[in-house]
Amino acid sequence: MTDLSVAKLPGALPDKRQVAASFSRAATSYDSVAELQRDVGQQLLDRLPASIMPERWMDLGCGTGYFTRALGTRFGEVTGLALDIAEGMLNHARPQGGAAHFIAGDAERLPLQASSCDLVFSSLAVQWCADFASVLNEVHRVLKPGGVFAFTSLCVGTLYELRDSWRQVDGLVHVNRFRGFETYQQLCEASGLNVISLENRPHVMYYPDVRGLTHELKALGAHNLNPGRPGGLTGRARILALVDAYEQFRQVQGLPATYRVVYAVLEKPL
Ligand SMILES: C[S@@+](CC[C@H](N)C(=O)[O-])C[C@H]1O[C@@H](n2cnc3c(N)ncnc32)[C@H](O)[C@@H]1O
Repeated sequence: MTDLSVAKLPGALPDKRQVAASFSRAATSYDSVAELQRDVGQQLLDRLPASIMPERWMDLGCGTGYFTRALGTRFGEVTGLALDIAEGMLNHARPQGGAAHFIAGDAERLPLQASSCDLVFSSLAVQWCADFASVLNEVHRVLKPGGVFAFTSLCVGTLYELRDSWRQVDGLVHVNRFRGFETYQQLCEASGLNVISLENRPHVMYYPDVRGLTHELKALGAHNLNPGRPGGLTGRARILALVDAYEQFRQVQGLPATYRVVYAVLEKPL
């Protein structure tokens, strides 16, 4: 039997208001540093069933709307809806178009009618949702029979070099926590949606120094927001110790930062 006790990460993910505020602040810097996000979202687009022709589609956690515009070009703007919890992201995305509606909402409580979508596309957003079972329930509710939920997310193993380096410095939580891939598997299997494909792949980015990585995370709005993160300024001595610890991972290309990316395509049974 599937153990769903692992479904929620109580207290392990940041408060939704903090997530919304952090992404809103990052709206203007996000696109300049979103190389990984572009690459991952493009791979998700490539995984959509070739025959899919949605009458109504949604970009869930649309951010700056890069993939909203790609979906609009592919499936038609007037049938599209872009949703995000961060007003700042929506304000940035809306003038650039791609969908008929840009609305504020929470993936765990979708402000949509049942059986109203043929496609829910979501790239690198649901790792911010503490209750992924609720996201799946909600997507199941809003999809029409035969509708598709295509998502990418991040799982355990993401930014392990940064996490391990900080652990050597002070043992505190400096990196956002992620669900295990097995939890994604269990929850998807139990969702009532058919799993067409579900896998995880490493994606490694390289930086000349630690500062390059931490600045990028901040510009993305994806720096550490966990409860239990250290407060106040990060002292110079601790930063130097972090830089030192991270050096053990250095490769010829630079300092690696691994992202463990989950790719999934699910379908609501007819
Ligand atoms: C890393 S960005 C990805 C944006 C876009 N999908 C892309 O690939 O460029 C994550 C987005 O998810 C949104 N998000 C986080 N939690 C959310 C939630 N509970 N409901 C809806 N959107 C959420 C954030 O505000 C942010 O815009």
